[in-house]
Amino acid sequence: MGIENRVALITGSASGIGKKTAYRMAQNGAKIVINDIMLDKVEETVKEFEQEGLAVIGKVADITKRGEVEKMVEETIGTFGSLDILVNNAGMERAGALRNLTEADWDITLNVNLKGAFLCSQAAHNHMVGQNRGRIINIASRAWLGGAGQAPYSSAKAGVVGLTRVLALELGRKGVTANCVAPGLIHTPLWDELPDKNKAFLLSKQPTGKLGDVDDIANAVMFLADDENGFITGQVLYVCGGRSLYSG
Ligand SMILES: NC(=O)c1ccc[n+]([C@@H]2O[C@H](COP(=O)([O-])OP(=O)(O)OC[C@H]3O[C@@H](n4cnc5c(N)ncnc54)[C@H](O)[C@@H]3O)[C@@H](O)[C@H]2O)c1
Repeated sequence: MGIENRVALITGSASGIGKKTAYRMAQNGAKIVINDIMLDKVEETVKEFEQEGLAVIGKVADITKRGEVEKMVEETIGTFGSLDILVNNAGMERAGALRNLTEADWDITLNVNLKGAFLCSQAAHNHMVGQNRGRIINIASRAWLGGAGQAPYSSAKAGVVGLTRVLALELGRKGVTANCVAPGLIHTPLWDELPDKNKAFLLSKQPTGKLGDVDDIANAVMFLADDENGFITGQVLYVCGGRSLYSG
């Protein structure tokens, strides 16, 4: 994999998909910045990586706050000398029927999933353009196609796809690619907590009949981050077991 010695900042990487992606990138020789809002989990993750001799630093920052994002990017470049790969992974969801959703549900979901990706991309922009090299990988979701009960999340992730396409158009001649990975059902602790009947329903809609794993997403991110894959930009790579073939 062509990510050796590249510097990768992965937002929301003290947990789940982001953490596994960061780990796999570190194992493949990248220098990693673990970002999250939770100090204890950032410290714990950094410690785990360091124990394996991996190149890592931790940055606690709320990606919805411009000042915190800019400081994180500056400190990343200050420590590692570069920022080559940005994975806008941090995300969350407030779900519910349209009539039950609050304005706060909408605002936080849009802020974390969409505004956060915008602020981080903007903060990375000058450095990536200046070095004529960069990879921006945004973690969208198959749900951007639309999901009942997912108005804020589907809208935010559709926005992430739109943002990615704009980044690809604006930065294509500057050596920077921008792509989305759109996960479907991924095996995380949240899945284990679902009632059996919900699990059965969701699995019935999977053409492959199974869940994905965090490694499936990490593989896709690393593919798009690879130095050698500079001719792929503005795309949505679904990693969802074929679920994107159905609507709803
Ligand atoms: N797990 C799935 O099945 C699935 C499916 C489709 C898409 N996704 C997307 O994948 C991404 C990762 O999901 P996950 O399942 O690993 O979730 P997760 O909850 O395990 O990890 C998300 C991390 O983001 C962090 N975070 C939240 N708000 C933040 C903020 N303001 N600033 C910095 N960090 C913040 C959280 O603290 C958490 O550690 C998300 O964008 C999610 O929407 C996940």
